[in-house]
Amino acid sequence: MGTIVVAGATGRVGSATARSLLAAGANVRVLVRRHADAQAWQARGAEARVVTLDDRPRLGGALDGCSGLFVLLPFDLTVDDLDEHADRLIDSIAGAVADRQVPHVVMLSSGGADLAEGTGPITGLHRLERALLATGTTLTALRPGHFQEKVTNLIEVARESGVYPVFAASADISKPMVATQDIGAVAAGALLSPPAASEAVDIIGPAYSERAVAVALGAALGRQLHVATLPDEAWAGALQDAGLRPHIATSVADLYRADEQGLLAPRGDRRVHGHTSFEATLDRLLDTVGSDNRTKEN
Ligand SMILES: NC(=O)c1ccc[n+]([C@@H]2O[C@H](COP(=O)([O-])OP(=O)(O)OC[C@H]3O[C@@H](n4cnc5c(N)ncnc54)[C@H](OP(=O)(O)O)[C@@H]3O)[C@@H](O)[C@H]2O)c1
Repeated sequence: MGTIVVAGATGRVGSATARSLLAAGANVRVLVRRHADAQAWQARGAEARVVTLDDRPRLGGALDGCSGLFVLLPFDLTVDDLDEHADRLIDSIAGAVADRQVPHVVMLSSGGADLAEGTGPITGLHRLERALLATGTTLTALRPGHFQEKVTNLIEVARESGVYPVFAASADISKPMVATQDIGAVAAGALLSPPAASEAVDIIGPAYSERAVAVALGAALGRQLHVATLPDEAWAGALQDAGLRPHIATSVADLYRADEQGLLAPRGDRRVHGHTSFEATLDRLLDTVGSDNRTKEN
């Protein structure tokens, strides 16, 4: 097997994918945006290139001779136009994959990416899946549901205000939530044993309700949290209050609405399961937040 390239290696799923591949003894080339990140990965035994995903020629160069690629469509909260940003990345990524005839691509997609519209930012993942399929590569589209790590955004607000906001009609409906390390393990497995044909793989984690998440978070923080269920018409405003730009808040509210309507449900070719519990992920996240705080205080 040749070199396997991993984009987004400083991110949650990309780093888990690269770590799993290195642990399996694969030749790994990570793509990062900063020299310090390149050096950190080289120290762990990976090759590293500093390149951005919207630079098609340099991205193509970084894919030279690879047998497989892990790629994602990063979300950027600072852009003026989410679709334009996504399409620029999609053109560059699919263009570089076509230029270098990459034989196998594992793409971090999402439940709901089979739909062309009505899912907020997931529509970009739909377009990236289509663009990669059109290159002739064998595509493994990984379609997880909610990441367990999305609780990260709520840890500080819960710690400080004692409120756990829920962007859904009910806090009592259980939904699968998958740990990003489990997604990375599935991505690495697919890259090490590519399928014979393109497929969409749903990754299903253990199911939790938002109230169960709030209870676990409250126990970990040592305070009881008030679960505040926000009505649909308040979502975009609450997201803006939390710091999102208005057009991004609207798009994320559309995503939450799609989830309420069942549009993000698994509809891929097959399913695999992630078994990491939410409590284990929360312990790891709070350790990280604790050590970050200690670093900042020092
Ligand atoms: N949150 C959920 O519940 C959920 C569910 C299903 C699917 N998803 C999808 O998962 C994806 C996010 O995955 P994640 O959480 O692992 O990502 P993440 O932790 O936010 O990491 C993003 C990675 O992409 C890199 N990156 C950003 N812009 C780049 C660019 N222009 N060129 C090159 N690299 C760039 C970042 O590098 P730097 O360190 O340099 O910034 C980082 O390594 C999104 O597509 C999202 O739609 C999320």
